[in-house]
Amino acid sequence: MYQSLLWELAEGIVTLTINRPQVLNALNEEVLRELEAAFTRIYAEPEVRGVILTGAGPKAFAAGADIAELSQLDGLRGWEQARRGQRLLDQIERCPKPVVAAVNGYALGGGCELAMAAHVRFASEIAQFGQPEVNLGLIPGYGGTQRLVRLVGRGRALELLLSGERISAQRAYEIGLVNRVVPADRLLEEARSFLKAVLSKGPVAVRLILEAVQAADLPLEAGLAREAELFGLAMTTRDFREGTRAFLEKRPPVFEGR
Ligand code: CAA
Repeated sequence: MYQSLLWELAEGIVTLTINRPQVLNALNEEVLRELEAAFTRIYAEPEVRGVILTGAGPKAFAAGADIAELSQLDGLRGWEQARRGQRLLDQIERCPKPVVAAVNGYALGGGCELAMAAHVRFASEIAQFGQPEVNLGLIPGYGGTQRLVRLVGRGRALELLLSGERISAQRAYEIGLVNRVVPADRLLEEARSFLKAVLSKGPVAVRLILEAVQAADLPLEAGLAREAELFGLAMTTRDFREGTRAFLEKRPPVFEGR
């Protein structure tokens, strides 16, 4: 069904693998289109409860936008391309189901931006991160100047953006760009076991947390107002009744997801 993407569903977790290893999983038109379609399906299909995003082959998560395609664009089409990539990454970030980026190798340019749109990032020890657009006479276009600042702070973001330098997984961990660094052969297993643990919690609460955190980019007052609304909403659910009752009865909860 997909040409440049692998879709594998097991135990409620879909593993989406960008599959163009011959060009280090560069994000071309086809990958963007297929990721859009895959996330539309992820939003819609109740049997999908969590997502792992990774790259095929031993070297790369994604080495950025496809430079051969980018080189053909002019100003207007470049702007359209940026808006299109940004829409896709927003779709990923706003996904009501938890998305973990399992960064197995290079996450550069659009690849780093894609990883930043995921809710959580786990990196293999051999992964490398960077925003090398400046080396191409370009700037990031899929949110790199915005999400990187929010994740690691303005000074560290500017260091990466202005130098175009690549950093190791360990350094990415130190600056808060990734959540965990794990041996390459344990990366997918680690991502899966994290997601399984999340999926054992109250499903409605997981969805509401993802939604509430979206409001963290708003002014604090508006974000807090949204949190309070969603807190109230959580209290109207059977999951909340069950979770609190189970605690008081000293037994594990059995959540229904409503
Ligand atoms: N687009 C298209 N093709 C790419 C690519 C990309 N982003 N990255 C790598 N490739 C291709 C190479 O051209 C090469 O193809 P051939 O075998 O046909 O020559 C193949 O993948 C393997 O790459 P290398 O031979 O370069 O592998 P390496 O191990 O020597 O180097 C690398 C690895 C350092 C990641 C290097 O490939 C590289 O610098 N890639 C480009 C990274 C980059 O600049 N990314 C930013 C793109 S712009 C962007 O993403 C804008 C945005 O914000 C949306």
